Amino acid sequence: MARRKRSGSGAWVVEHEQDPFVRKARDEGFRSRAAYKLAEIDRRDRLIRPGMQVVDLGAAPGGWSQYVAAQIKGKGRIVAVDLLAMLPIRGVESIQGDFTDAKVVERVIDGLLNRQSDLVLSDMAPNISGIAVADQARVYALCELALQFSQRALRPGGVVLIKVFQGDGFEDLRRRMRVQFKRVVVRKPQASRARSKELYLLATGYQ
Ligand SMILES: C[S@@+](CC[C@H](N)C(=O)[O-])C[C@H]1O[C@@H](n2cnc3c(N)ncnc32)[C@H](O)[C@@H]1O
Repeated sequence: MARRKRSGSGAWVVEHEQDPFVRKARDEGFRSRAAYKLAEIDRRDRLIRPGMQVVDLGAAPGGWSQYVAAQIKGKGRIVAVDLLAMLPIRGVESIQGDFTDAKVVERVIDGLLNRQSDLVLSDMAPNISGIAVADQARVYALCELALQFSQRALRPGGVVLIKVFQGDGFEDLRRRMRVQFKRVVVRKPQASRARSKELYLLATGYQ
């Protein structure tokens, strides 16, 4: 879940400034350190190749989309969606809207131009309210939407990567993904902070 930045919190600023992935992202021109989470999973699981059609859910500020655009090398298509506006990225069609709104989901489907997708990525995370039960429910509502969307958008054999948070709902989501995909594995890339409950569920071989 996206943590609220405590304004004036010296500790947060120091941690952020000293984070090696924040520095690396600045040096290498990525808009977010999140790009390195996807890069690590991609290096291990070989998800992204030129020519693919990829959907990026919860894409802002755009680190994942930048990484995917670099990997598909102008051959393929990327459709990105976020509540927040995103500065343009060459080769990425960006849609601003709330993915819990069915009309926004239809705009994303339209953006796929009747072509089945190879890969659906979801890094969506709600802002936390501090009420644990409500926050976890909102996380899994977004995961559920990402999974439902992948069933509409993916080609047979396609892949979905969904950010989840350990806790209630995790095992249920994993079980349901196993029914629809040949293989489901958990990934915790190094760029994902150890104290964060964030994990990624990677499901391959959509059937
Ligand atoms: C961790 S950030 C994504 C970072 C991104 N992957 C990157 O590499 O820059 C999570 C994003 O999910 C988005 N998000 C949360 N709820 C959403 C919703 N209902 N619809 C669309 N985007 C949403 C947030 O606006 C936020 O930008």
